[in-house]
Amino acid sequence: MTELLEPRAIGQALVRRDGTDKVRGTAVYAYETPVLEPLYCHPVQATIARGRVTAVDTTDAETLDGVATVLTPHTAERLASTEDAELAALQTDEVAFRGQVIGVAIAETSELARQAADLVRVTYEEAEHDVTLSADRDDLYAPEKVNPAFPTDTDDGDVDAALAAAAVTVEQTYSTAMYHNNPLEPHATTALWDGSGRGFLTLWDSTQGVHPARSTVAEVFGFDEEQVRVICPYVGGGFGSKGTPHVHVVLAAMAARAVPGRPVKLALTRQQMFSLAGYRTPTIQRMRLGADREGRLQAIALDVVEQTSRIKEFAEQTAVPTRMMYAAPNRRTTHRLAALDVPVPSWMRAPGECPGMFGPEVAMDELAEALGIDPIELRIRNEPELDPESGKPFSSRNLVACLREGARRFGWDGRDPRPGVRNEGGWLVGTGVASSVYPTYRQATSTATIRYEAGRYTAAIGAADLGTGAWTVLPQITADALGVPSEDVDVLIGDTNHPVASVAGGSSGTATWGSALVEAARAFRDKFGTDPDDGDEIAGSVGKNEATETYTMAAFGAQFVEVRVHADTGELRVPRLLGVFAAGRIINPRTARSQFIGGMTMGLSMALQEHSVLDPRFGHVVNHDLAEYHVVVNADVGDVQAHWIDETDPHVNPMGSKGIGEIGIVGTAAAVSNAVHQATGVRVRDLPITLDKLLDALPG
Ligand code: MOS
Repeated sequence: MTELLEPRAIGQALVRRDGTDKVRGTAVYAYETPVLEPLYCHPVQATIARGRVTAVDTTDAETLDGVATVLTPHTAERLASTEDAELAALQTDEVAFRGQVIGVAIAETSELARQAADLVRVTYEEAEHDVTLSADRDDLYAPEKVNPAFPTDTDDGDVDAALAAAAVTVEQTYSTAMYHNNPLEPHATTALWDGSGRGFLTLWDSTQGVHPARSTVAEVFGFDEEQVRVICPYVGGGFGSKGTPHVHVVLAAMAARAVPGRPVKLALTRQQMFSLAGYRTPTIQRMRLGADREGRLQAIALDVVEQTSRIKEFAEQTAVPTRMMYAAPNRRTTHRLAALDVPVPSWMRAPGECPGMFGPEVAMDELAEALGIDPIELRIRNEPELDPESGKPFSSRNLVACLREGARRFGWDGRDPRPGVRNEGGWLVGTGVASSVYPTYRQATSTATIRYEAGRYTAAIGAADLGTGAWTVLPQITADALGVPSEDVDVLIGDTNHPVASVAGGSSGTATWGSALVEAARAFRDKFGTDPDDGDEIAGSVGKNEATETYTMAAFGAQFVEVRVHADTGELRVPRLLGVFAAGRIINPRTARSQFIGGMTMGLSMALQEHSVLDPRFGHVVNHDLAEYHVVVNADVGDVQAHWIDETDPHVNPMGSKGIGEIGIVGTAAAVSNAVHQATGVRVRDLPITLDKLLDALPG
């Protein structure tokens, strides 16, 4: 057990410390970094999906006035490591997907760079490509593990026999679409190479982790980490797409090295972000449930098919949440991948849990209907005593409390389970529920320092605030650990000159950095007491959480949705979203609510609109801009509420907090689909739920 902090600043709905600067436009983002006489970069992208670049003619581009140079696979420097093929910019003639970087133009203005990139003449030897995911491909393979290090398959008991003997079964296939993260701020890097001595690279990069980004870049170029500094005070959203560096960071650094002494700027265009910055793989989920008459699950099986790129494996852990959600004696999960001629998939908010809770949570609704049991009651009847996968106890698990509290707040009692029977003025009305889960992680690397000077404490840690609130909550944690008001604490984050910190990913940031800050604060008090001298400073580091050996740790939640579907047109409206979460102690209700609501809204977006449409003829996403890749906006959402229940967990970290950045998106899409079914009687098993999937089947 950890000694939990006495919450004083923790729990206060303090306003964002960076709020004023952001509203006034004075917060400086990576691309805007003021540097002297910058040059601008524009990537050149492959217009074929597979083949080889046979010739690149840069004559027209380079004779344009104001163009510094154009780097191509034939002229770019050789990188020290090409092990990560996604990052091996301009190292080969091979084209592995449409949109792959095959050059970069560097010029005095961004417009000139773009014009120069357009003037580059590329000749290809084109090969046949294949970008179509299906469950009956004959080249599906089992990866060695799924992200980040889970077993690919699990098999306990005898699922087939249990299904054959079950009183009621649900056997259905569900699918989720390809999605792009689409943060508001595009992926951008300002880079400066100082060629003196052994050389020094400064990167102002929009990233979820300055130290992890530095390590990656240092490895790719063969630099010592001390030769690279990464700076990132603010991030305009990432959702995982800035969790690991993508090729543009390497390209910016290469460009800077090609023009030593001149800073360069590179921002991907929105369209380029659809092939160069990662995305969530589409998934096909074959789900099988078997239960007895009382609704006790006898078998749970989920077989997932998803895609990765030909050049780099990314194995989304889609079936992993199913392993621990509900009790059942017979259980099976599998993942199979198709390696296609597509861009490299990557992290997107709640990788695994987000797509992976769609099929299973709709299947639970189908099972409830088949049994004639309320869907909340069905979930409660299958609540496990212990983690069904590992046999460990949960450090805390309050799914049932979330379902009950949500039912109370939402007004679930007395719901008529019959589908398609409530018609209010031509609108079919329905409600749905789904569970939500996200693992509670804490990374083992992060160090913080605390320094006292003139009545104020300054905490330094290379953490990243990707819009989530780190600038605000880290002082709250530090203040409570020191026993001082949070106004007396400053933090310094977003720079590799600060002590090493882990990535803002896996909803682990606050838990990890907060733990390091608490260690530093406790060490500070032990050494310097409560009346320190100016200049007193000490460091503290987070260690491995030994309690993970004993406990399974996760946050849980319940999502409730009301939908209205127009009986004639199929038009779909969502007047209400309500989520209740059990995520340990909430450090700042204001920033936490924003995370939950943001996640839920993104889940609604996934349910109704988001869908990257891959054209199999050319291998690219055709709706590659925000005009055609639709995300929900305010007008698409009515009343959105996030609530939480008090949860004390002394095992997770000294704050007693669980990560909250991702859980809000988990389960929302299933709850929407379940609500659509109750409204209309139509079961939509493939996302998004567009009206063409409803129209033909609407009652009357
Ligand atoms: Mo999150 S997708 O782990 O940045």
